[in-house]
Amino acid sequence: MDKQVFIMDHPLIQHKLTFLRDKNTGSKEFRELVGEIAMLMCYEATRDLPLEETTIETPISETKTKVIAGRKLAFVPILRAGLGMVDGVLSMVPAAKVGHIGLYRDHETLQPVEYYSKLPLDINERDVIVLDPMLATGGSAIDAVTIIKRSNPKSIRFMCIIAAPEGIKAFTAVHPDVELYCAAVDDHLNENGYIVPGLGDAGDRIFGTL
Ligand code: URA
Repeated sequence: MDKQVFIMDHPLIQHKLTFLRDKNTGSKEFRELVGEIAMLMCYEATRDLPLEETTIETPISETKTKVIAGRKLAFVPILRAGLGMVDGVLSMVPAAKVGHIGLYRDHETLQPVEYYSKLPLDINERDVIVLDPMLATGGSAIDAVTIIKRSNPKSIRFMCIIAAPEGIKAFTAVHPDVELYCAAVDDHLNENGYIVPGLGDAGDRIFGTL
């Protein structure tokens, strides 16, 4: 694949990201910003959806015009922070289905443990966009995509707001076939696994559990 990582540096996304990062931004505004950024990123990440011609009548005349060519999408947020992106992407693609994945790494076996997984039954007919605002070590992103691949979707893309270089490296090494869309690539991970400068704990800031 020529290019696997896409950085969405649209001015509107970058502007909103500044307020998202700010530690003085409260949960209500933070939630709204996550939704708005996800909506704008979805617009970019679906730029190559195929179109087909249709014929309609305007009040003035008949005309040939275009609609999305029956391509079916599914969004799969990784619990819990990915939930914050769902409303935004659904506002762009209301007909999409939504699956959910919750997982953690067993500290002893280091194997991913799915504590929740509910994917659309027809996921094998769908293009999937996995959602998680932060790609830090890449562990849960890698595991979630591995789990989703077992259901044979038509394609998988991964959308995050902020990625760490360490996460990108790990993710692209395991899933070279999955395009990665992010709004920013930050500097590094700190010793606690937080992205620097990042925005702190996305789940805590979305749900006010600080
Ligand atoms: N998850 C977060 O919410 N923030 C980070 O910085 C890293 C992982």
